[in-house]
Amino acid sequence: MLCRCALTRRLVASVGALAVALGLGGCARDGPMTTLIPRSDFARSILHVYGIITWVAVAIALIVAVVLAWVLVRFRARVDAPLPPQTRGHTALEIGWTIAPALVLLAIAVPTIQVIFRTQAAPLRTALQITVVAHQWWWEFRYPALEVVTANELHVPAGQPVALTLDGPDVIHSFWVPQLGGKRDVVPGRLNRLAFTADAPGEYRGQCAEFCGLSHANMGMRVVVDEPAAFERWVGAQRAAPAEPTGLAAEGKAIYARSACVGCHTIRGVSTGALGPDLTTFGSRRTLAAGMFPSTVETVAAWLRNPTALKPGSKMPALGLTDDQARAVAAYLVSLK
Ligand code: CUA
Repeated sequence: MLCRCALTRRLVASVGALAVALGLGGCARDGPMTTLIPRSDFARSILHVYGIITWVAVAIALIVAVVLAWVLVRFRARVDAPLPPQTRGHTALEIGWTIAPALVLLAIAVPTIQVIFRTQAAPLRTALQITVVAHQWWWEFRYPALEVVTANELHVPAGQPVALTLDGPDVIHSFWVPQLGGKRDVVPGRLNRLAFTADAPGEYRGQCAEFCGLSHANMGMRVVVDEPAAFERWVGAQRAAPAEPTGLAAEGKAIYARSACVGCHTIRGVSTGALGPDLTTFGSRRTLAAGMFPSTVETVAAWLRNPTALKPGSKMPALGLTDDQARAVAAYLVSLK
């Protein structure tokens, strides 16, 4: 039988191993939500401050560890050792340990405040204006000057300043695309702003970073940074009239037009609902349900049959479609490029 201290040791070792495993599990430098590989001016500014704070903290930790080790050895208990000299009310020491932390705070505060002001500055007038509307639990992106509305997949041109205005109708959310910029809250009744210039074409993952209800964790987004010419092509495709569907998709369009879908969704020329995502170019998006699933006829049909089974709390009700009807509507939606 194990004695109590052996059991305690095993427990401490197990908990320690678990903590190390969980800690290392979050350490991938190039994960999709990495903050260590910036791809915009905004993200680089934040990493710069992070670097300063990290190295200051590392230096302080090393100094403290070395001094502590020296004290532990130098003043360890010895048989018959006399009491070391006792210091009380040492003015120079007290001034020293007041000034040293103040200098450390200053070293951290100056670059931090600089970056706060830089990233809060009014965006350039020439910046591409995009309104981000955060809903429970999806993202709406409006490009007023381009007359484009889309959802959950934000496209921006590389090398051009972008100015986001953040707005929301329900609860507080937080817009966060770590490789492009810091978190910024989306607060109902208040317009927040976020501006950045993305470096180069690529795809980035974003996520709502403020707890906003049952499917908060499922409120992701894709951000696609395009070459300027590819961005123009994307805008053109978003504005073009959707092609008239044929076959199963045509059947799906008829079902869509006579079902409850039209009360909540817009498809240009077909319906004008405003509660759910605009579906005019649904088929051009790679993912479904705010980045949860790849957008295929199968996943969309499963979604139409029972949204809350795939996304807890989804505001979209089940429409009572049969499997065949759901497949037809899914084929129609996926055809909308
Ligand atoms: Cu929206 Cu969390």
